[in-house]
Amino acid sequence: MEKKWWHKSVVYQIYPRSFNDTTGNGVGDINGIIEKLDYLNELGVDVIWLSPVYKSPMKDNGYDISDYQDIDPLFGTLDDMDRLIKEANEREIKIVMDLVVNHTSDQHEWFKEARKSKDNPYRDYYIWRDEPSDLKSTFGGSAWTYDNTTGQYYFHNFAKGQPDLNWENPKVQDEIHNMINWWLDRGISGFRMDVIDLIGKEIDKKIIGNGPRLHPLLQDMNKATFGNYDVLTVGETWGANPEIAELYSSPSRKELSMIFQFEHMTLDWGEFGKWTPKELDFKQLKQILSKWQTDLENGWNSLFWNNHDLPRIVSRWGNDGIYRVESAKMLATILHMMKGTPYVYQGEEIAMTNVKFDSLHEYNDVEIHGTYRDIVEENKLITHDEFMNGVYIMGRDNARTPMQWTRNEHAGFTNGLPWLKLNPNFIEINVEDALNDPKSVFYTYKQLIDLRKNSEYSDTIIYGDYQLILENHEAIFAYSRFDSDNELFVIANFTENEQSVDLGIDAKEVIVSNYIDTSTKLELLRPYEACVLKIK
Ligand code: NOJ
Repeated sequence: MEKKWWHKSVVYQIYPRSFNDTTGNGVGDINGIIEKLDYLNELGVDVIWLSPVYKSPMKDNGYDISDYQDIDPLFGTLDDMDRLIKEANEREIKIVMDLVVNHTSDQHEWFKEARKSKDNPYRDYYIWRDEPSDLKSTFGGSAWTYDNTTGQYYFHNFAKGQPDLNWENPKVQDEIHNMINWWLDRGISGFRMDVIDLIGKEIDKKIIGNGPRLHPLLQDMNKATFGNYDVLTVGETWGANPEIAELYSSPSRKELSMIFQFEHMTLDWGEFGKWTPKELDFKQLKQILSKWQTDLENGWNSLFWNNHDLPRIVSRWGNDGIYRVESAKMLATILHMMKGTPYVYQGEEIAMTNVKFDSLHEYNDVEIHGTYRDIVEENKLITHDEFMNGVYIMGRDNARTPMQWTRNEHAGFTNGLPWLKLNPNFIEINVEDALNDPKSVFYTYKQLIDLRKNSEYSDTIIYGDYQLILENHEAIFAYSRFDSDNELFVIANFTENEQSVDLGIDAKEVIVSNYIDTSTKLELLRPYEACVLKIK
């Protein structure tokens, strides 16, 4: 496989509104990111994926864009953005923006025009029908909203303020291509592509994800835009399996660099999806993650536990009580020693946890409120308490509480009133304390990132083979990474119970460990113990 710079990268995702506020309005901003570049440099990441900072009425916190070529005043200005790109680049950090082109905001000029009349030149930028079908919105309720002025329904896969663009219209394609080039020429280094698997949809056949036009559209986009630059593109593709992943990311197909796939992230979803979670089947988790390690031969995958749509991993599959530190380090170790490009979501590096607000009204997320209306109030499929349980375990606001920088007021995130309540545990969990403690989760992330990027094991970690070990063990995740130069053995106890290990190991060296006295003859794993051993 031809080597690419992004094979070696570690990406840090910033959800700008919750990262760092410099104006005191309670919302994070671009200058706040610039202020923290040295912190990110210390962590060792070399790419930042910025969740949307474009102009937006913020119905879905920026995933509803009203102007692709401007910055929302909440976050700053285009000049701030240029400065961010420049200051980041000076620290050898690249900026990747979020490309949200399945839909716009209903406040986008194109949609404002489109809804004026059936013969408006922008009408066909969106999807209109005389009658709605039974397609549902991801955020609850129908995917169709009636528009009075012209007496037709428009399609929105998400909230009604997020009308879907009509990708069958070549003019839409041209507009988006021009916009992409405009940003690339400003010096950004790529895009994370929001629900990109939906743009090839065939609405009348009720095909939404992985539609027949998807890959030709991506090939056209590549040719007209990012294919002409040396950049990173990562598609958010919920329905991908390794075969589909090859379609997106085999270099010869000239589509994307890599994808985010979510097979491991839905393993504990129950009858009503994430709202009614079930227990994780640990053996299945191992099997799925391993399948992605071995079956994706010609493409490239990403590695992640967290993002702004997912609950905090230490609360989900770790232990956010007494073993918070051990289990967070364990989860980091298992993920970062795999093949693929790792993504760290803000706060993950200090093991921030899920949050529990007393009432539904304290939550901001459009998905939480839309789904509540649909499945609790209108259709009575689950009770209020069942729903709240789902929110506590899986709701997106778990990931969106403000970043915990210090133990001072509002965790050092803002001088004003934070847009979303903080997790009260910022007194114990914050960046300042983590930086002062050599044994903190932060330094394990730093070590893992450094090992991947700058060590004698880099090539083995990035390109080496993978083999799952102890496949049927109920508590231990173990695998080996090897090539002609090195063999690394990675092992982790996913439980709080001790586990004996009978593999006859006598390693040369302990390279990473979350206990200070891990032995090279590994015979016992303590609660959440994880280590990387050098075998050869
Ligand atoms: C996926 C994004 O990650 C999520 O936050 C957003 O709500 C939807 N796409 C719609 O843009």
